[in-house]
Amino acid sequence: MAAGDAELARSQIILGRPALNTSRQALRRLSSADLLAVLETEAACYPNPWSRKTFEDCLAAEAKGHHCYALMCSEAMVGHCVFTVIANEAELLNFCLAPAHQGRGLAREFLAQVLAEMNERGSERVFLEVRESNAPARRLYGFAGFSEDGVRRGYYAGPGEREDAILMSLNITQGR
Ligand SMILES: CC(C)(COP(=O)(O)OP(=O)(O)OC[C@H]1O[C@@H](n2cnc3c(N)ncnc32)[C@H](O)[C@@H]1OP(=O)(O)O)[C@@H](O)C(=O)NCCC(=O)NCCS
Repeated sequence: MAAGDAELARSQIILGRPALNTSRQALRRLSSADLLAVLETEAACYPNPWSRKTFEDCLAAEAKGHHCYALMCSEAMVGHCVFTVIANEAELLNFCLAPAHQGRGLAREFLAQVLAEMNERGSERVFLEVRESNAPARRLYGFAGFSEDGVRRGYYAGPGEREDAILMSLNITQGR
């Protein structure tokens, strides 16, 4: 372990969080065999989780520009995402990390890998919507350089009143 890594590991032990070894994370294609685990993570993460049918439709639409990925960490699936690439634009439709793996910086690594994948597929700009109250997600996207471009009023259904969506985008032409 390099000196810097040892220092990071020490600071995380002090914070009570395990050290993060980002070299052990990798994306792989999601398959229908993963859907039980995906639906469990969805239910734990979203007030209005996607249904099995929605994921099945996305998996079936891969030829039409839908892409579904799992984030693997030492053989275990710890997150999933769905995005589209149409012409030179990508849209991040779902991005989710299992609760046990949140708060460690893992989503930053996951998002970086997803953006690289979008770029590989010809995207020059990525768009997304996020609930106004979703502070961890807005922090994550802000950290990655996304700008907040506008608001879509009452876009999300909720347990109570409908909630606004913040529209965000990022130029990902780097490396192309
Ligand atoms: C959005 C989501 C992916 C963010 O996950 P996350 O783990 O909070 O995000 P990050 O990887 O950026 O982690 C950042 C946190 O880890 C902490 N952290 C700990 N160790 C770290 C390290 N080595 N490197 C970076 N950050 C570290 C940071 O301080 C930060 O903590 P804070 O949130 O208390 O400020 C997650 O909340 C989620 O899956 N939510 C449910 C689904 C969802 O809402 N998706 C977005 C839809 S638009």
